[in-house]
Amino acid sequence: MSPKEPATPTAPPEGAAALLREATRERHAAVEARLDLAELLASPAGYAALLGYFAASLAPVEAWVAAHPRADALPAGLFRPGTPLLRDDLRALGADAAAPAADPLFLLDGPTEAHLLGVLYVLEGSALGGLTIAKQARRALGTTATTGASFFLRNAADPLGPWNAFKQRLNARVRTAADRDAAVAAARAAFDQFLRQPAPSARPLPC
Ligand code: HEM
Repeated sequence: MSPKEPATPTAPPEGAAALLREATRERHAAVEARLDLAELLASPAGYAALLGYFAASLAPVEAWVAAHPRADALPAGLFRPGTPLLRDDLRALGADAAAPAADPLFLLDGPTEAHLLGVLYVLEGSALGGLTIAKQARRALGTTATTGASFFLRNAADPLGPWNAFKQRLNARVRTAADRDAAVAAARAAFDQFLRQPAPSARPLPC
């Protein structure tokens, strides 16, 4: 933990899910602030850059989850990789290549289920914001699940079902102080992977 990092907040009565929300609030705001949706959704090129940003940030984190020693013990449906959906969406836009990952490896030393659930909190929670982005993209560019928005719309059929199921598991399995510390560190690390990726831009990079 860096010297400036705030300590893990004391667990509120609502459990680990509420704790993680509090512990990553600043990082969520920082991620949101670097995604200028007004600019990115103004053109197909900007939208493709946004998808490329998610693809580059997400791929290393999802590879870490898939290789995690406790991944096989997760209930079915708790980990639904978004990387293949992003690949399809980029292809639908005719933009095959995602931006290269600024940091192609997610190097988190987190062997416990609490670490795994901390990372999954970020992946699963991001689907909530995904629906907001999908709505705006549809309005601005007409994108649908088959024309580039399958990733952002991944929970459209049941917007809160997977999130509530995930939070139930998280609250049931992350109960001790050590578990809470592990989950908080893991969730913060997952957000940091997104914060290391350069902000997407509709404008081509200067040579
Ligand atoms: C411009 C981009 C984004 C927007 C507009 C956005 C918006 C939102 C919204 C509206 C919610 C629901 C809040 C609520 O119901 O109280 C949410 C939740 C969440 N988002 Fe984002 N989000 C964005 C990007 C991201 C990214 C890139 C990540 C992951 C790296 C992320 C992770 C989360 C998480 C973990 C939650 C759950 C928070 C909770 O515990 O309730 N979001 N977001």
